[in-house]
Parts: sequence; structure tokens; C-alpha cells
Amino acid sequence: MKQPCALKCSITIMFFFLIIQPLVNGQLDYKFYDATCPNLTKIVKFGLWSAMTNDTRIAASLLRLHFHDCISNGCEGSVFLDATDSFQSEKDANANRNSLRGFELIESIKENVEKACPGTVSCTDILTLAVREAVVLSGGPYFSLPMGRRDGLTANITLANTDIPSPFEPLDDIITKFTTKGLNLKDVVVLSGAHTIGFAQCFTFKPRLFNFNGSGGPDPQLDASLASSLQTQCPNQDSSNTNLVPLDNVTTKKFDNVYYKNLVNNSGILGSDQALMTDNRTSGMVLNYSKFPFLFAKDFGASMVKLTTVGVLTGQNGQIRNKCNLVN
Ligand SMILES: *[C@@H]1O[C@H](CO)[C@@H](O)[C@H](O)[C@H]1NC(C)=O
Ligand SMILES: *[C@@H]1O[C@H](CO)[C@@H](O)[C@H](O)[C@H]1NC(C)=O
Ligand SMILES: *[C@@H]1O[C@H](CO)[C@@H](O)[C@H](O)[C@H]1NC(C)=O
Ligand SMILES: *[C@@H]1O[C@H](CO)[C@@H](O)[C@H](O)[C@H]1NC(C)=O
Ligand SMILES: *[C@@H]1O[C@H](CO)[C@@H](O)[C@H](O)[C@H]1NC(C)=O
Ligand SMILES: *[C@@H]1O[C@H](CO)[C@@H](O)[C@H](O)[C@H]1NC(C)=O
Ligand SMILES: *[C@@H]1O[C@H](CO)[C@@H](O)[C@H](O)[C@H]1NC(C)=O
Ligand SMILES: *[C@@H]1O[C@H](CO)[C@@H](O)[C@H](O)[C@H]1NC(C)=O
Repeated sequence: MKQPCALKCSITIMFFFLIIQPLVNGQLDYKFYDATCPNLTKIVKFGLWSAMTNDTRIAASLLRLHFHDCISNGCEGSVFLDATDSFQSEKDANANRNSLRGFELIESIKENVEKACPGTVSCTDILTLAVREAVVLSGGPYFSLPMGRRDGLTANITLANTDIPSPFEPLDDIITKFTTKGLNLKDVVVLSGAHTIGFAQCFTFKPRLFNFNGSGGPDPQLDASLASSLQTQCPNQDSSNTNLVPLDNVTTKKFDNVYYKNLVNNSGILGSDQALMTDNRTSGMVLNYSKFPFLFAKDFGASMVKLTTVGVLTGQNGQIRNKCNLVN
């Protein structure tokens, strides 16, 4: 008698997945540290919780640190490296110098992880988990993350200067910076939603306040009462350039969908944020997220998982750094 298909086929399917799985997502695996560092999540969570009781702003800072690492040269921890004889530090890139934060926190969590499971967990994976915990502790969605990223052996300030989007850039250029990394238009809109928490330095939107495009007045795409409040917080002189203004003026510390509501009523702070509402390729998504918080929560998790897999090093590539700022 012939074997029924059920068994044979399921075996075939099983082997199919065994072979295909690593090709789909590198060596990343949801159970990667289950045996080798079972307390990892607990350690990272505690590190974030302690940091945020002192400084809630650290949540937004970590999202930014992670994004700047991943979007230039992939998620491989190059952003942590100090300069050496053979490369400059990405910490000195235009988008990072005097603004990137969170290095000490990740380094201190890494020390605790090293005590529990020496030489096992990359700085890149610690940052990835820390970002998830930062989102959750700010009231945002939980999303599970495959692990197994390894740390890179070099940094590249040129790539950091060219690949990290700037708030002054046209939306088309920003979209290109995402699509060349395998991210899409929806990811641009969804990941921009991280600006629901955190602060911006005045210089990042000052051109919108006083003499927008040579008009002698503020950007017409900026709500008039918000514009006058921003003019007070960011007076038209260089000394105000580093003053901090909340990106979401309404629920500054809460990870929610109010960022999109703000864009709908012309209250986006950065020109690059407000552009998502003026461009008809993205405005429909902005409207959707402004109305449906659960849709945003679900899509944000999915786009973050995508972002965390950009350009990762797995298997035998890279290394597990002992300290995040130095190659071993
Ligand atoms: C995990 O942490 C608990 C305490 O929270 C400790 O009792 C246990 O030994 C730790 N496990 C490992 C494998 O380090
Ligand atoms: C508390 O946060 C501030 C930044 O807001 C930081 O300078 C300081 O080092 C933090 N203190 C501790 C104990 O982490
Ligand atoms: C940085 O990346 C650019 C573009 O890929 C490359 O031309 C350059 O050699 C790299 N620099 C270093 C120091 O690796
Ligand atoms: C800036 O002004 C020029 C000429 O006045 C106009 O063509 C252009 O569309 C304006 N740009 C923006 C972003 O408003
Ligand atoms: C928030 O925006 C309103 C105008 O929409 C303004 O009156 C208020 O001062 C702003 N608050 C902050 C902290 O920026
Ligand atoms: C924009 O929408 C928010 C609600 O999300 C509201 O609190 C805020 O006052 C609105 N701003 C303006 C200028 O209408
Ligand atoms: C967007 O606007 C342009 C011109 O304003 C138009 O050609 C295009 O069809 C519009 N696209 C969508 C998706 O509405
Ligand atoms: C907005 O949401 C609706 C319902 O979920 C969906 O059908 C539509 O395609 C969405 N629009 C955009 C532009 O994403």
C-alpha cells in the first residue's frame, strides 16, 4: 500500500522549512538566547526601567540611536564604536554629534549581561531589546524580536553622513534612504511615528519659523498658534539652537498615535514629519493612523521587526564585543 500523503507531505514540508528558514531571516531566531542567556530580557527590562525612572527621555533617545545604527550600514552596532587608527567614529557624523544619547545606558546593561552570560550577547541585540522595552515602558506596543545579531568590526562615518535622513530633506530623498535598505513607503510613515515621544533641538525646524522659503513668515503648513509658541521657545538667534521642544506637544511622554493627529492639524514640528501629510502618497496612511491607534500599534511592531533585520551580521560574521565601544 502506498503511504498516505499526510505523513510524507508533512515531512517534506518540515524539511522545506528547515532549509528555507535560515535563508529567509539569516540566522536570527526567536529562541536564540533561550539556552545561553535565559535572563537576558529580564536584565534589559530592569536596565530600562531603572533608567526611565530617572530620565523618561531616554526612551526616545534609544529609538534614535537604534535607527541611526540600522539605517547606515545595517544593525551591527557600528554606532557604538570609538574612533581608531583605521576608522572615524560615527558618533562624530553630522546627525549624531552632540545629539545622540544612550551610550552609557547600553554599556551598563551590557556589563550586567556579561556578568550573567559572558561573551554571549552582542551589543546590537542588547540595543534592539532595549528599544522594545523603551517603547513598551512608554505605553507603546510589545513586539517580539528574533535574536542573534552580531557586532560589526568597523564603523563608517561617510555612510552615517550620507544614509541618515535629515529633517531638512525632501520626502523623496528620505523615502529613497529607506527603500535602498529594503524598507518601504509604509515603513517610512510608521517608523516616523516614533516621533510621538522625544524632543527636537530648535535648529532642526527653525527655518520653518521666521523666514520660511524667503516668505518673511512661518511655514504656512505650521499651525499659527503653534508657530508663535515655537518662536517663543526658539528665538531667532543662534543661542537658542540647542533648546529642546517636544516633538508631540500634546502627549509628549506617551507612545501613542497623537503624532499623526498632530500632522493632520498642521502641528508637526519637523518639516520632514509634516511632509507626510502634504504628500498624497503618504497622507492616507497618516489619516488612518490618526484614527486607529491599534492599527498604528500593530504596524509599528511589524516595521520595527523589519528595521531590526536590516544588514544584520549573523552566524560566524562579526563578533560578540566585550565592550560596546571597542572591537575585541
Ligand atoms: C536568572 O535570574 C534568577 C533571579 O532572577 C536567578 O535565580 C537565576 O539563577 C538566573 N538564571 C541564570 C541562568 O542566570
Ligand atoms: C539621570 O538622568 C540624567 C539626564 O537627564 C543623567 O545626566 C544622569 O546621569 C542620570 N542619573 C542616573 C543615576 O542615571
Ligand atoms: C565607507 O563606505 C564607503 C561607501 O561604501 C566606502 O567607499 C568607504 O571606503 C568606507 N570607508 C571605510 C573607512 O570603511
Ligand atoms: C518656495 O518658493 C518658491 C518661489 O517663491 C516656490 O516655487 C516654491 O514652491 C516654494 N517652496 C515651498 C516648499 O514652499
Ligand atoms: C503646544 O502647542 C500649543 C499651540 O498648539 C502652544 O500654545 C503650547 O505652548 C505648546 N506647548 C509646548 C510645550 O510646546
Ligand atoms: C491638534 O490635535 C490635537 C489632538 O490630537 C489637539 O490636542 C490639538 O489642540 C490640535 N491642535 C490644533 C492647533 O488644533
Ligand atoms: C497625487 O497628486 C498628483 C499631482 O498632484 C497626481 O498626479 C497623483 O495622481 C496623485 N496620486 C494619488 C495617489 O492621489
Ligand atoms: C486605511 O485603512 C483602510 C481600512 O483599514 C484601508 O482599507 C485603506 O487601504 C487604508 N488606506 C491607506 C492609504 O493605507
